[in-house]
Amino acid sequence: MEKIWNTSLTLNNVNELVSLYGWVARKRDLGGLLFIDLRDRSGIIQLVIRPESECYETALSLKNEYVIKAIGKVVQREKKNEELKTGEIEIDVTELNVINQSKELPFSLTEYTNALEDTRLKYRYLDIRRNEIKEKIITRHKIMQIIRNFLSSEDFVEVETPVLCKSTPEGARDYLVPSRVNPGKFYALPQSPQIFKQLLMVGGIERYFQIAKCFRDEDLRADRQPEFTQVDIEMSFVDENDVRVLTEKLIAKVFKEIKGIDISLPLKQMKYDDAIKYYGSDKPDLRFDWIIQDITNVFKNTEITFIKDSVLKNGVVNAIVIPNSATHFTRKEIDKCTEFVRNLKASGLMYIKMEEELSGSIVKNLTDTEKEELIKALDLKKEDIAFLVVGEYKIVKNALGALRCKIAKDLNLIKKNDYKLLWVTDFPTFEYSEEEKRFVACHHPFTSPKDEDVDKLLTDKEHCYSKAYDIVINGYEAGGGSIRIHDEKIQKKMFEALELSQEDIEEKFGFFVEALQYGTPPHGGLALGLDRLTMLLTETENIRDVIAFPKTASASDLMSDCPNFVSEKQLEELKIKIVK
Ligand code: AMO
Repeated sequence: MEKIWNTSLTLNNVNELVSLYGWVARKRDLGGLLFIDLRDRSGIIQLVIRPESECYETALSLKNEYVIKAIGKVVQREKKNEELKTGEIEIDVTELNVINQSKELPFSLTEYTNALEDTRLKYRYLDIRRNEIKEKIITRHKIMQIIRNFLSSEDFVEVETPVLCKSTPEGARDYLVPSRVNPGKFYALPQSPQIFKQLLMVGGIERYFQIAKCFRDEDLRADRQPEFTQVDIEMSFVDENDVRVLTEKLIAKVFKEIKGIDISLPLKQMKYDDAIKYYGSDKPDLRFDWIIQDITNVFKNTEITFIKDSVLKNGVVNAIVIPNSATHFTRKEIDKCTEFVRNLKASGLMYIKMEEELSGSIVKNLTDTEKEELIKALDLKKEDIAFLVVGEYKIVKNALGALRCKIAKDLNLIKKNDYKLLWVTDFPTFEYSEEEKRFVACHHPFTSPKDEDVDKLLTDKEHCYSKAYDIVINGYEAGGGSIRIHDEKIQKKMFEALELSQEDIEEKFGFFVEALQYGTPPHGGLALGLDRLTMLLTETENIRDVIAFPKTASASDLMSDCPNFVSEKQLEELKIKIVK
């Protein structure tokens, strides 16, 4: 039987007898005539059941979400419903079968619901019936199709890589799976297919991609899930630019086909150090200007004690200017901003308003020269407000970077369908981990250092930079990658720089280092976060909206109540004892 979708019917089908399947979305009794909104995946069509019809009694018994089959004639409506795609027609029903009933629903399936997210997640299969979620799932499918078609047309081969892997640390914590046949031993779920895709290059595949599930046991945020999907790409005989050009073409195609938006290529590039300097973030949101300005110089002779003390200790004074907004920022608003930056470890927030004259928290302590220099340095105009933070470089940048995004959101400056894409490049190779008290890899340990920095790997870690790049869209890291180390000696040196002992290198990465010795081509690639890309293209800030069966912030599935306890027998088989 050929499937007839509700929304495939138009005036062209008038007088045809059709048989439709779906769910009762709504029933209206207009004192005789019964109207039913029948919903299938494609949308709604109106059924009319007349009192004289044989199926009238059955129709009267219908409740929301009953599953029915309706047979009837397509007729033109007397009055068109502009809101429905099928608004010009309805089905004059002659036969009606109830295929299945439905219990009373835990929440109503309206387009915009105020049901708690936890309730929606518990009954996710019902939530998926709502347009808001269903459309996102369908868009995700379309994005995947475009990606698969594009990469296949560019000679990439889709290869699946294992999900039960060796634990080879990549940055986050692993999810571990005990092995029954090897008691005491564990697999890890892949944080990404990084090592496998590099081995596929050693294997001569040259151009690989995979829509791959990745697993990371890390603290969750609105744009992070413990299991998520990457569009994973790797290419041989390429440099950084080749990978970027390919990725740009792919992204531009997705934007064009999904949103009808032309992305202008090549994308802007910004060095990591500049992203931090001007935007306080390695994923700058360029939908609004307001760059962070360094005004430490204005305060070189200041008598304001806390600024003087901080600058003496190598601190900086930075500012952002929000034009034309001085009146918006009442005492209460400014207090909220202060609280916000304090939560990001800043010692406080100063402000200067340019009204009839300068006003603000520190103005009375400024000399006339300082006031003049400040106005000049920040190019302050009437009604502008500047926010200043003083302190250690990283903390100041991070606080002002986050503040500029918060304010843009609070002031409702973010427009629909406004997309700003860029590459952030030249990442440092290492970052210092306070927790581990050592330098760790900024991307991952397989990232190639810049040629000129190879010699500094062991001696000057703070000044080593990598052939790494992230693609950033509207303040989200949508993807990241690098050119890899293909020389076994440099790879070993990198492990050494990361303070892995010889035994550790051998135990964890021995097989990989060995593979590098059998004619490894130069290679590089990147991985796009499919969930984040879908979030951006469907304009939601909640990653759960674009995943059919997502996990909560505590990594649980409320629907199936997972994770859960397992039986003693299962544990025994695995030779595992739970310590209470
Ligand atoms: P990276 O760790 O940067 O790189 O991941 C690539 C992209 O995956 C997305 N992403 C996530 N999305 C949702 N939830 C998460 N927990 C999560 N973590 C990451 C981001 C990110 O940009 N193997 C390398 C890629 C490479 O070097 O080729 C890697 O995994 O959008």
